[in-house]
Amino acid sequence: MTSRLELVLGDITAEDVDAIVNAANHTLLGGGGVDGAIHRAAGPELVEYCRTLGGCETGQAKITPGFNLTARWVIHTVGPVWHGGGRGEPELLASCYRESLARADEVGAESVAFPAISTGVFGYPIDAAASVAVETLRTTPTQVNEVRLVAFNQETVDAYQSILDLDTSADP
Ligand code: AR6
Repeated sequence: MTSRLELVLGDITAEDVDAIVNAANHTLLGGGGVDGAIHRAAGPELVEYCRTLGGCETGQAKITPGFNLTARWVIHTVGPVWHGGGRGEPELLASCYRESLARADEVGAESVAFPAISTGVFGYPIDAAASVAVETLRTTPTQVNEVRLVAFNQETVDAYQSILDLDTSADP
């Protein structure tokens, strides 16, 4: 289980952690949102490396070097597109967080920063997504001892904060 779960507002490309997670698409060849920002900050070597990976399925994750990023690694995961919640979206989103932690464990990354996967272009409602993220990160066995939830806007901060407050008030 992760020992420390932190919430920060900012740009994930600037995070000084061992690995940052990218909310990618099936191609792993870049896109908009956080994916575009990570590829711009990492430099063109990242897409060259990603071309060798053969894409990625929804709910899975693949790891690459961070190239020009401060982070040593980038973990690319593909979140589900929101279709109303009845097409396995919560399970697939939980799988993104679990698989990302598994890739981090494989390389010995101890600190990992996550964006709010699927909550931008892919349309997953932030409150529901925040709940899946926190629950999964709290319950998945891992060697990662510091997880940073990186919110890019205040709405995302508020969504995480209310889940984290709920968690705290549920403590004995
Ligand atoms: N740092 C942290 N969070 C960010 C940043 C950043 N620099 N930029 C955006 N976000 P999205 P998705 C937040 O759309 O919904 C891409 O085109 C953003 O505010 O990046 O999983 C891919 O190639 C939101 O809260 O990812 C895929 O095609 C969160 O990151 C598709 O979008 C996720 O928004 C994936 O869609």
